[in-house]
Amino acid sequence: MRVLGVESSCDETSAAVISSRDDDATLDSLVILSQDVHAIFGGVVPEIASRAHLAAIAPVVRRALADARCALGEVDAIGVTNGPGLVGALLVGVSFAKALAASLGVPVIGVNHLEGHLFATALEDGAAVPPFTALLASGGHTMLLDVPAWGEYRLLGATRDDAAGEAFDKTAKLLGLPYPGGRHIEALAKEGDPSRFRFPRPMLHGGQRAGDADYYDVSFSGLKTAVLHAVRDAERRGALDEERPHLARAFQDALVETLAAKTVRAAVEKGRTRVVLGGGVACNAALVSAVRERVRAQIGGDAAVFAPSPRLATDNAAMIARAALFHLARGERSDLSLNAFSSMPLA
Ligand code: KG4
Ligand code: ZN
Repeated sequence: MRVLGVESSCDETSAAVISSRDDDATLDSLVILSQDVHAIFGGVVPEIASRAHLAAIAPVVRRALADARCALGEVDAIGVTNGPGLVGALLVGVSFAKALAASLGVPVIGVNHLEGHLFATALEDGAAVPPFTALLASGGHTMLLDVPAWGEYRLLGATRDDAAGEAFDKTAKLLGLPYPGGRHIEALAKEGDPSRFRFPRPMLHGGQRAGDADYYDVSFSGLKTAVLHAVRDAERRGALDEERPHLARAFQDALVETLAAKTVRAAVEKGRTRVVLGGGVACNAALVSAVRERVRAQIGGDAAVFAPSPRLATDNAAMIARAALFHLARGERSDLSLNAFSSMPLA
């Protein structure tokens, strides 16, 4: 069976083809077109994103099919992200997928973007399957989930304000770095002295117990404000240039320690020996190694941490096709009334 995946929830127009045989899914092609135009505005401009998707969708799909040496007539089903995301952006992918499916006479299935992120690592590592604890951290979402089986998602905690990627992007802006700022902060932090500044670890303290409202939740807006004050102080001293790497390092250390501690706390509490990371922030090597270290210390050598390669961590259609395959195998289908939704709960 060959599944065409389509993703257009934010600022990446993406298409992918996967083939399945028995329990195995192979990635035949993946095309991701990132809309660089938003860098000028320091954030995604919804209407520009929708129009850029409209211009790109047909060539991106055509290219994914060509790379997979898959003729249109060989597509057995289409999976498309239908939420959560920017509605105008989602509608481009959803309308395109419905029209193509109708013209080919094949089924179409709507996929939750967040569920897609959970499936990303499974495309690269056959062992990245439930039961596991999942941390999804992107520009729009930060959530901690317990996943006993594919299709069963229990939300343990989430951010109360900014998403982790949003915190990276806002802090990057404060430090005068380009958008999106995550990878720039990570690069700069490598040159930073970890003892120069220390920011509070938000919502992380020793006395927390299972059942406390803040046990699994995170919050990053206070951290961003702490960085703002430190930046202003450095500016007053005329020392921002030399402090920049140290500020980036202190910010990243605080955010990473919080996410790693809460993720491993969830794995221990739920008795999971696998941790799956997803979303653009999972590209951050400091986060991945912090989670690995804690898992080794608190769970032991049998436990494993799975992080997708950068191409599959950020928004892509391969993960959408993989999640679609799971639903199609269960006999699920969407009909032509399939719509797009800005918010769409996963759990
Ligand atoms: O999953 P994604 O591509 O799109 C959303 O669904 O939001 O995630 C994008 C986010 C951005 O906020 C970006 O700054 C962040 O992921 N990001 C990183 C890194 N690479 C991307 N954050 C920290 N470290 C990185 N290396
Ligand atoms: Zn995403």
